[in-house]
Amino acid sequence: MSNFIDFNLASYPFPTKLTPLTASEKKHCKQSIKLLLEKRNAVIVAHYYTDPDVQALAEETGGCVADSLEMARFGSLHPASTLVVAGVRFMGETAKILNPEKKILMPTLKAECSLDLGCPAKPFAEFCDQHSERTVVVYANTSAAVKARADWVVTSSIAVELIDYLDSQGQKIIWAPDRHLGNYVQRKTGADILCWQATCIVHDEFKIQALKKMKMLYPDAAILAHPESPAAVVDFADVVGSTGQLIQAAQNLSNQQIIVATEKGIFYKMQQACPDKSFYIAPTAGESAFCRTCAHCPWMAMNSLKTIEQGLKKEGELHEIFINDELRERAFKPLERMLSFAANIKSLNYKC
Ligand code: 13P
Ligand code: SF4
Repeated sequence: MSNFIDFNLASYPFPTKLTPLTASEKKHCKQSIKLLLEKRNAVIVAHYYTDPDVQALAEETGGCVADSLEMARFGSLHPASTLVVAGVRFMGETAKILNPEKKILMPTLKAECSLDLGCPAKPFAEFCDQHSERTVVVYANTSAAVKARADWVVTSSIAVELIDYLDSQGQKIIWAPDRHLGNYVQRKTGADILCWQATCIVHDEFKIQALKKMKMLYPDAAILAHPESPAAVVDFADVVGSTGQLIQAAQNLSNQQIIVATEKGIFYKMQQACPDKSFYIAPTAGESAFCRTCAHCPWMAMNSLKTIEQGLKKEGELHEIFINDELRERAFKPLERMLSFAANIKSLNYKC
């Protein structure tokens, strides 16, 4: 399979960092966004990894801050005619596929995801054609074209349940694109999975040896990990789950100290949910030249008050998601299956 792409050589042109706003610029920008949201009958749908200012604004204005599954659900159920999706491009595309009648704006369309970039539609379709007897399950972190080639879309919050179900039906699976999540799901379910080999550049950086040393420093701390992290980190964790499930776990656990192996943006919500607990980021290669991301997604960081304001003011090709009808209809089916499957799972609790 990896004849198509050498994942070890993959490198990405990271966006430049945004200049932070002053307090008075932030205030002005927030006021302007609030007026624009009202004028456009729009609501903000933000991911947990976005900047705390963005998450706070989404909350203040009746929008949502959520994991990728909940973002998709919220956007579909909310009556606003415009959704401002603060996250990365696949999240905006998912919103458009599910809600063609709504205008979907993004702070920038340049917010990529290494999993999406690591699974281009053409080689992926060729790979599927070579294994046409297998059911194709793709993670939400993919382009509309890759979703259109799939039988199912899934997010990390229901991945184990869905693969377990498909396995119980005797189905063999193609899983794409995240190899760590694919590996985790395979080990949890024992299903027959052929896995695409892309990774998340943020989660791939968490280091098990350093994490073990950290645990010695904080022996009473619980460890929470997103399943896009390497297997050794996931195996060492007390709780593994989607961003939403990790926040829930932080609330439910009795531990006062919590080490978290996922993107730093999640601390805003975790600290809000548990003001008395102490949170620590799991170690990466360190804040040095050896760390590519330092637990911070460079594309999520492109969402700011300023870029949200720009999106609402300018709209057009730089900010609006357009997907042609034929592609949209094909990508809709596996996404709709995901939402129905999720609705039928009684409890989406985190997995210990
Ligand atoms: P969640 O579905 O857990 O929100 O994850 C999305 C993501 O991009 C993780 O890196
Ligand atoms: Fe993609 Fe990783 Fe960023 Fe999530 S954190 S959007 S998986 S690059």
